[in-house]
Amino acid sequence: MTEQNSSTSKIIEIRPKVVFQAVENRYQAQNTEFTVNIPSSAIGGLTLLESAILVSFVKLISPAAIFEFGTYMGATTLLFARNSSDSTEIITIDIDPNTTATQENISEADYLNDGNANDEHLRDIFAKHGAIYINRAERHLREKVTQLYQDSTTIDPQQQNFLKRFQLIFIDGGHDFETVRSDTENALNMAADDAIIVWHDFRSQIHDDVTRFLDGFSQTHEIVHVAHTMLAFMLIGSTREILN
Ligand SMILES: C[S@@+](CC[C@H](N)C(=O)[O-])C[C@H]1O[C@@H](n2cnc3c(N)ncnc32)[C@H](O)[C@@H]1O
Repeated sequence: MTEQNSSTSKIIEIRPKVVFQAVENRYQAQNTEFTVNIPSSAIGGLTLLESAILVSFVKLISPAAIFEFGTYMGATTLLFARNSSDSTEIITIDIDPNTTATQENISEADYLNDGNANDEHLRDIFAKHGAIYINRAERHLREKVTQLYQDSTTIDPQQQNFLKRFQLIFIDGGHDFETVRSDTENALNMAADDAIIVWHDFRSQIHDDVTRFLDGFSQTHEIVHVAHTMLAFMLIGSTREILN
């Protein structure tokens, strides 16, 4: 995949209710509920609105397999596990804690204002504490989840049996341009014929590279941003029909 830069973004914006209406249309005779943890007070997680959008995608496409780039505390991994069918498998990847040098000198001012420092800080938290939300979950939920400890840029989709395997892919790992580009390239190969790829941190105040990458990527792929969130997504195959 070549690097794409453009000052003119072709990203389409929709309101969250467009996604919620699709869920209402799909499940007209029943309530559609979901279970979510009280949001963490730590940085790096999703808002409740973002969680609702992701679960809506799960409800709309009933994915057999979900892949998450960036496990962190495992809050979104657990969200997927709790709100998908019993047979859904969830694979989530984060760096190997044993190979991560702990950075003791990142100040709060740095990690709140600088994207690279923020990424380092989150890698640190993951290396020190692991995916606490997954670890604390009930056994039947933990059993749906496979945690990989690997730099996502070293994924080999063919060798790891990931090709065309996932109906829902969430890209929320490293936020530098090269990692987002690599994760996206892998995601395109790992996506099933009918799939949704979702990126987090689009239009984030500190992770400019995600926005820059997606603005360029939107020149050749239809990317949709959900207003009032940092989620952007791409519909592949028959999932293109879900919002109609
Ligand atoms: C924003 S957090 C993920 C949040 C999580 N998806 C959630 O919703 O709760 C980003 C995570 O990506 C991980 N990460 C950063 N660079 C990575 C890389 N190259 N490979 C794998 N994981 C990476 C960090 O260790 C961190 O835990």
